[in-house]
Amino acid sequence: VRPKVVICRHLGPAMPLLLDRKDIDIVLWPEDRGCERAWLLENIKGAAGVLVLLPERVNEELLDAAGPSLRVVSTMSVGYEHIDLPLMAKRKIRVGYTPDVLTEAVADITLMLALMAGRNDGVAYSLVKNGGWAKPNFGWSPFTFCGPQLSTTASSPARTVGFLGFGRIAQATLARLVPFGITHCIYTSSPTSRPDVARDAALQTKYNLKVLERVDADRLARESDVLFVLTPGGKETYHIVDATFLRKMKPMSVLVNTSRGSVVDSDALATALREKWIWGAGLDVVEGEPAITTDHPLVKEPQCVMVPHIGSATFQTRLDMATRAIDNLIGGLFGGEMPAEL
Ligand code: GLV
Ligand code: GLV
Repeated sequence: VRPKVVICRHLGPAMPLLLDRKDIDIVLWPEDRGCERAWLLENIKGAAGVLVLLPERVNEELLDAAGPSLRVVSTMSVGYEHIDLPLMAKRKIRVGYTPDVLTEAVADITLMLALMAGRNDGVAYSLVKNGGWAKPNFGWSPFTFCGPQLSTTASSPARTVGFLGFGRIAQATLARLVPFGITHCIYTSSPTSRPDVARDAALQTKYNLKVLERVDADRLARESDVLFVLTPGGKETYHIVDATFLRKMKPMSVLVNTSRGSVVDSDALATALREKWIWGAGLDVVEGEPAITTDHPLVKEPQCVMVPHIGSATFQTRLDMATRAIDNLIGGLFGGEMPAEL
């Protein structure tokens, strides 16, 4: 019999890669919105594989609903906070994900948010959209809408960029910052990871950095002018950026989070912005998303620029992610190689 696979979202232009196959039996969530849990639990019965996205919790409930037939879970994401990995290992279910292909797209939006948050784009953009530019009281005044500068100039020397997590996306973001004149970079890594001295020496030479140093969280908070949160989510990184951390940051610093909302304590960040412990924040992810309404404390903060988790949303990157997710699924189904397996 052909193995049954459940696909939780229509995969657009990548769909033919699945539909053209004669050796699988496809069950596709039929609507153009998030897959309903009840539908998934019902349809996954007896499936050998499932292709999920970030909102699908892959936990005991789902595995029990599937039964012993389930061999592979393929997520169309680089993050895997939604998947219970120890449980997968216990039940010998292979898990695929989509690293690498989205690195550049996420680094692009990370830089965008750093610029937007520093330069008051939240306030400036809403002013224009609400007709404020044409109002008689607008008045272009010398220091209105000013913010800290990301690039280095003769009169504004060395800015230190900090990375909470220094993986692929962090390094791709650093590459984009080098032409801005950035020469000082510090980062933290998971305490269980070993220092990568050779990699750091190579990066330092490649980008002509004066400083590239692995530091502790205390120094990261105190010394960063722009702080990029680029670490996986999960228990180990939960609320690393909390009130204590934010209190240590520079008053003109900018915080950017393009990884997982759970790393940053939203209430503490809202307080930090309101009380001007830091200058601004640029967020692609927020804890509790997607239930972020207009009365959310961070949405109400003028110095917080927020976009709805669209870091990898370019046509090419999403096509690459979908393709990789399908390749992982097929590899796992037939006991073959998966291009990116956790
Ligand atoms: C997006 O957040 C992803 O994990 O791919
Ligand atoms: C994710 O892809 C990372 O390693 O930063």
